[in-house]
Amino acid sequence: MTSLEDRREPATLDPAQRAAWLRREIEDHDYRYYVLANPIVTDAEYDRLFQELLALEAAHPELATPESPTQRPGGTIETSFAPVRHDVPMLSLANAFEREGLESWATRNCKIAERNGFGYALEPKIDGLAIALRYEKGRFVCGATRGDGVTGEDVTLNLKTIKDIPAQLAEPLDVEIRGEVYMEVAEFEALNLRRGEAGEALFANPRNAAAGSLRQQDPRVTKERPLRFWAYGAVGLTGVDSHSGAMARVRELGLPVWPDSAVVPDLEAVWTYCRRYEATRADLPFEIDGVVIKVDALRDQADLGSVGREPRWAIAFKFAPTQATTQLLDIEINVGRTGTLNPVAILEPVAIGGVTVARTTLHNEDEIVRKDLRIGDMVIVQRAGDVIPQIVKSIPEKRTGDERVYVFPDHCPACGSPAVRPAGQVMRYCTGGKRCRAQLAEQLKHFASRRALDIEGLGARLAEVLVEQGLVNDLADAYYLTRDQLIGLERFGEKSADNLLASLEASKGRGLGRVVFALGIRDVGEQTARALVDHFGSMDQLAAATFEELQAVAGLGPIVAQSVHAYFGEADNRAVIEKLRTAGLPMVEAAAQTAKTGPFSGLSFVFTGRLARMARPEAEALVARLGGKASSTVSKATSFLVAGDEAGSKLEKAQKLKVPVISEDEFLERVASHDPALVPASR
Ligand code: IVH
Repeated sequence: MTSLEDRREPATLDPAQRAAWLRREIEDHDYRYYVLANPIVTDAEYDRLFQELLALEAAHPELATPESPTQRPGGTIETSFAPVRHDVPMLSLANAFEREGLESWATRNCKIAERNGFGYALEPKIDGLAIALRYEKGRFVCGATRGDGVTGEDVTLNLKTIKDIPAQLAEPLDVEIRGEVYMEVAEFEALNLRRGEAGEALFANPRNAAAGSLRQQDPRVTKERPLRFWAYGAVGLTGVDSHSGAMARVRELGLPVWPDSAVVPDLEAVWTYCRRYEATRADLPFEIDGVVIKVDALRDQADLGSVGREPRWAIAFKFAPTQATTQLLDIEINVGRTGTLNPVAILEPVAIGGVTVARTTLHNEDEIVRKDLRIGDMVIVQRAGDVIPQIVKSIPEKRTGDERVYVFPDHCPACGSPAVRPAGQVMRYCTGGKRCRAQLAEQLKHFASRRALDIEGLGARLAEVLVEQGLVNDLADAYYLTRDQLIGLERFGEKSADNLLASLEASKGRGLGRVVFALGIRDVGEQTARALVDHFGSMDQLAAATFEELQAVAGLGPIVAQSVHAYFGEADNRAVIEKLRTAGLPMVEAAAQTAKTGPFSGLSFVFTGRLARMARPEAEALVARLGGKASSTVSKATSFLVAGDEAGSKLEKAQKLKVPVISEDEFLERVASHDPALVPASR
C-alpha cells in the first residue's frame, strides 16, 4: 500500500512518469477493492484512471509493459484461502459509456466475423463479485472467486451458506456455473447500520459488502450476511448453441438466472433495453451499474475470441455513476417544524448523474457518529434515482489531520433554548416552543404547503418574512392578515395581496383531514391525520379523545397517540384551533362522514348570512353527516333556508318561493334531536 505522500498526483506531463503513476495508483486501488473490499475511490474515478492509462499506452506503445494493469484482469490473490485454478479463465469486460462505444464495438465485430450482424443476449450488469461454481455429477464441490482471472480463492464453505446456490443440480452433470454474488440494497443498509452502531467501518456500497462478507474466514459470519446469487454463464454445458439457450438450461438445473434477459436482433433494440434499465435501475432491489451485451450464438463467440483481459463477444454498457467523492465542508442545523434539530451536510459541490449536490441531510446526530463524519473529511456521496443524496461514508484513509470532530449542539441555534433528546428517540428537540421563530416559520410553511392547506402564494420565503416581522405569531394568524399589512411588505403589491387573500379563503374548503395534517402535530402525517378524522369526525371529538381512545384508532401506535394527546393538552394549541374555527376553517368532516341515509335524507339546506356558532363549511358538513344535502342556491326544491345575521338576497328568494326559513338555533335543535354530540360547543 502506498502512503498518502506517494499518492499525490505528480505535476508532470511526462508520459512515462504519468503512466508509471497511473499504474501504481490502479494497482493500489485494485488491492483495496479486491483484497480489502474497501476502496477509497468511486468506480467512476477508477474507470477514469484506467481509461487514461489505456489511452496513454495506445498513444505511446513503447510505454506498454506486460505487467501493466491494462494487460491483465484486476484482482489479487489473498493467501488465506486455498488457490483454485480456473481451467477456463474468468475474463473481464470492456466498457462503453455512450451509444457510440456500442456501435463501434458492433461494427468491429461484424468486420472480424465477416457478418452483417448478430443476435445479442442482454442482461443487467449486477454489481457484486464474480464467482465460479463447480458441480461434479450434479453435486456442488467447489466455489471460487475470480481472483486474477486465472487463479481464484476457494470460498466453497462460505458459498454453501447462500440459499440461491443449490447443493445438488436437477441433473447429474459436470459443469461450471458462473455468476454474481451480491447483496440487496436494503440488506446492505441494514448491515451498515449495525456496523456503524458497533463502531465498525462502513462498506461503501453493496458490492463491497458482498465481497467483504464472502471473504470471511468463518463461514458462520458469512451465513449472517444475506448474500444472493444470479448465474450469467456456464462452462462445459453440452447440447446448447447459444448463451440464451445455456441460461435456460442453467435455470432448469436449479440456479437463478435473470428473468428479464432478452435476445434482440440489432443495436437499436440493445439501446432501448439499456435505456429502460438505466431509467428503472433505482426500482430494482439490488444495484446494477450497466447492461452486459453478449453475442448470443456460441459459434460467433468462438469466432470472435478475446484480446487480453476481455472477450470481443461481450461488452458492458456502463450507466452514469451514482457515487462521487467530495469534501464535507461543514454541518449546519435547520430547526424543523416540530422543533427537531436537523443536521445538514454542506458539501464541496459535486456533479452526480447530471445534478450538482451541494448539501444533503444527515438525518440525526447518531448518524454523524455512526458514519464517523468529521468536518473536512473526504466522503462518498450517493444519489440513486430520485432519492435525496446520501453520504454513504467518510474515507478515513484520506484524512490529513486537519479534520474536526463535530459536536452536536445542546441549544437551539435559532432561539437559544435548550435542546433535549427524549429517551429512546433519535432526534433532539428545541424546547423553545412558541418562542422559537424558526419553528413557527417551518410550521407555517408546512401549514400552507400543497398537501396541507395548499395556500397558493404563501411559500417558504413569505412564511419567514411574516414570522420575522411579527405579523404571524401563531398559525391561525395567517387568516387574520389584512390587505394593508400585506401591501406593506417588501415586494408585495396590491395584486399579490388580493391573490393571497383569495387563496387563504379558498383554503378553507379543503376539509378537516387537511386541517389536522396542516397543524403539524408531531408524528402525524397525512395518513394518520386522515385516520384520525375518519375515526372522530370532528375536531372537537378528536381534541377530547383520551389517550386510550386515540390508541384504539386502527394503525395508531402509543407514540403517535401520545403526541396527539399532548398536542391537544396544550392551551396554546387549543387557542389556535379556536382562532381557526372563528376564521371559518372546517371543524367537522364532510366527505368521509357523509351518510348515505340518515334523519336528513331527502332534505336540502341552504345557509345564508353570518352564522354565530359555526362556520358555513362546518354547518354543511353536519347536514351531510345526517344524510342531507347542502346547496348554495335557493330553489323550489330547497327544504330549509338557514338564515344567520345580515341575510340578503337568498332570504328574499326563499320567501318568494315559500321555502321555510329557520334560524341557526332552530337548525341546531334539529341536529341535536338526532345526535346531540354533533352540536358544536357555544362560542
Ligand atoms: S459476463 C466474459 N454477465 O461484470 C464475460 N458479467 O466487468 C464475463 N457481471 O467479472 C462476465 N453482471 O463480475 C457478465 N450479466 C453479467 C454480469 C457480469 C455482472 C460482472 C462480473 C464480471 C464483471 C466484468
